[in-house]
Amino acid sequence: MNASTATKPFLRALGGEALPRPPIWLMRQAGRYLPEYRELRATAPSFLDFCYNPTHAAEVTLQPIRRFGFDAAILFSDILVVPDALGQKVSFETGEGPRLDPISGPDDFARLRQSLDMTRLAPVLDTIRLVKSALPAETALIGFCGAPWTVATYMIAGRGTPDQAPARLFAYRQRDLFETLMARLVDASADYLTAQLRAGVDAVQIFDSWAGVLPIVEYERWCVRPIQEIVAKVRAAIPAAKIIAFPRGGGAQLLEVAALPGIAAIGLDTSVDPAWAARALPKGLPAQGNLDPLALLAGGAALDAAVDRILEAFSGRPHIFNLGHGILPPTPIEHVERLLKRVRG
Ligand code: CP3
Repeated sequence: MNASTATKPFLRALGGEALPRPPIWLMRQAGRYLPEYRELRATAPSFLDFCYNPTHAAEVTLQPIRRFGFDAAILFSDILVVPDALGQKVSFETGEGPRLDPISGPDDFARLRQSLDMTRLAPVLDTIRLVKSALPAETALIGFCGAPWTVATYMIAGRGTPDQAPARLFAYRQRDLFETLMARLVDASADYLTAQLRAGVDAVQIFDSWAGVLPIVEYERWCVRPIQEIVAKVRAAIPAAKIIAFPRGGGAQLLEVAALPGIAAIGLDTSVDPAWAARALPKGLPAQGNLDPLALLAGGAALDAAVDRILEAFSGRPHIFNLGHGILPPTPIEHVERLLKRVRG
């Protein structure tokens, strides 16, 4: 650990220290609730081009740090750059979300690359280097990828769906092919996270946004095991790698992820009772979360009460304050300021 690491509150909490006030960052903190984000975003024709432009991506990564002084910046990118770098066609339709050429069987799968096209992802690594050189010494930088299950749901359906039925059916009906796809995504994700850590991020987060739709057997098979494999691969390459797992929506099943060897912290979604989590999680494992994004949107006394409840539940434990899912675009700036004041005291 070097001197700058020791002074970053985010990394102290991630290392297992219970700080009097938890460090704070917010999922999707770089995004549409910020006027300066909307202004720069309007200059780029496509969202993916915007993600692959190091100057723009670095600028929007830094915007919430300048405005609010969060304890960590999260790299501005998207989880769907992985299928893009595996050769699947990916685009984002304004107001409609992602569109991919769906993978429905062996022929579509055969068109994917064996491994990531790293030239395609080079701008992401350049963004990391640009952000690192501009961040305050006390601010950490977080990289990320989507978990294989969550990424596979988009690769198979070709878009977001309410219940991930296309990927769930695929996994039941074409089990061997699904296994092969997941193995490809495990390798690609581990390579991608390793590259981000080598480029200078302080920690990485694995977003399993759709873990919560899986019954227990499938949860173990498609959420827990792939995350475990990624953690093992990344830590084989970089033994000190700090990896946060965020399995969203699985209820008490999250304890299976929390028990994985080698994870640095567990992200808690909005539905998790922080008092229960403080009792049930492995002792000393840092928890990250889990304010309801709608409480932040609402503001006022409801926001204060929700914040206090989380602070109280995790007091005396290593904790990183965050939302339980991404910040919502209509969230007023003043509510974020109020939240920071409340958390920092
Ligand atoms: O958190 C951050 O500030 C860093 C950037 C980030 C984005 N996406 C930028 C983004 C991160 C960490 C993500 C992760 C991501 N992307 C997830 C996992 C987390 C989660 O929210 O569950 C998922 C499932 C995606 C896929 C994705 N990207 C969808 C479904 C959409 C459309 C929905 C929407 O919010 O518009 C995106 C687009 C996207 N990714 C935007 C941003 C800021 C909005 C597009 C725009 O600004 O034009």
